[in-house]
Amino acid sequence: MDRIKIAFFDAKDYDMQSFKDANQNEEFEVQYFETKLSAHTYKLAEGSDAVCVFVNDDIDSYVIDRLYEMGIKLIALRCAGYNNVDVEYAFGKIHVVRVPAYSPYAVAEHAMALLLTSIRRIHKAYIRTKDFNFSLNGLTGFDLHGKTVGVIGTGKIGRIFIDICRGFGMNVIAYDKFPARDSGIEYVSLDEIWERSDVISLHCPLTDESKHMINTESIEKMKKGVVIINTSRGALINTEALVQGIKDRKVGAACLDVYEEESDVFFHDYSNHIVNDDLLARLISMPNVIVTSHQAFLTNEALSNIADTTYSNIREFFHKDSSVNEVCYKCPNVATCDQKHDKKCF
Ligand code: NAI
Repeated sequence: MDRIKIAFFDAKDYDMQSFKDANQNEEFEVQYFETKLSAHTYKLAEGSDAVCVFVNDDIDSYVIDRLYEMGIKLIALRCAGYNNVDVEYAFGKIHVVRVPAYSPYAVAEHAMALLLTSIRRIHKAYIRTKDFNFSLNGLTGFDLHGKTVGVIGTGKIGRIFIDICRGFGMNVIAYDKFPARDSGIEYVSLDEIWERSDVISLHCPLTDESKHMINTESIEKMKKGVVIINTSRGALINTEALVQGIKDRKVGAACLDVYEEESDVFFHDYSNHIVNDDLLARLISMPNVIVTSHQAFLTNEALSNIADTTYSNIREFFHKDSSVNEVCYKCPNVATCDQKHDKKCF
């Protein structure tokens, strides 16, 4: 077989660098495109064997059909989440592989970085001291020690976040649709998470079931002053309900690395533009909201692991029968799928 041709969408400087480093022997022929893969851009993939995509590329049934017609065999996600691909529709047409873990530490550590920044007002203090304002008024925080954190999703990232929280002397309770028995984690119902937690951190995938799990009703059940952290997927939170919860002084702070409508905004520089998204503008204007633009994964270690695993997924798919990181189209939960993936799913 000739060199495998890859159309690489939504390419940024940092991932081009890591993918070039991991392809120094030029085993793969990679064409980098700044644009995202969508119904408007799929034609760029013409002549390729595989497309390589990230979290905000939009691979719906229409795009899958077009890629299939063009003879594309593989959608290689260079991320863990796959909610942006219609995997059920892809079954039988195009295989989908992902990078299930690149650095769960990167994401869990970022969640804690956001939490500490928020509750100790580091974001405020940083700006003040830059301006030689050394006043402490309004910077009072609270101890994490002894507080209760509710962790939703106890997979790779959630468990590392739990360990970090325990290091701070926090009481950890958790909810997972598929609890890890014998893990020493105290599992409770979702209602108990809402009612008992001082801090809630989301580490589950976005599915039909988990969409908007934080909404008006769940916020009503929460403690006054609760801090909500979302480093998972934006649509786990109903943003309007969150904004209202903050305005009602019910939610004490929100730490958001992801946002429901992020695909139109995140990863781009809009510093010289008027942003049209009023909800995002409202969130950003609030002193107790910290927004980072889906950056939790962004460490050197993670970028290097993403490039290595993506190439290995592609190599394995085209040269072997197995596909260890193939997204399972049938299991409700890829994390607990017990298929050996010693052969391709179809
Ligand atoms: P994982 O697959 O190891 O763990 C996910 C856990 O969520 C599993 O234990 C699963 O049983 C549980 N779960 C599934 N459905 C659930 C539901 N409806 N309610 C509660 N729990 C449920 O995934 P991992 O690696 O820990 O990643 C978690 C999420 O983090 C990913 O789905 C992805 O959306 C997000 N992520 C964000 C990144 C960022 O840069 N902000 C980077 C990487 C992942």
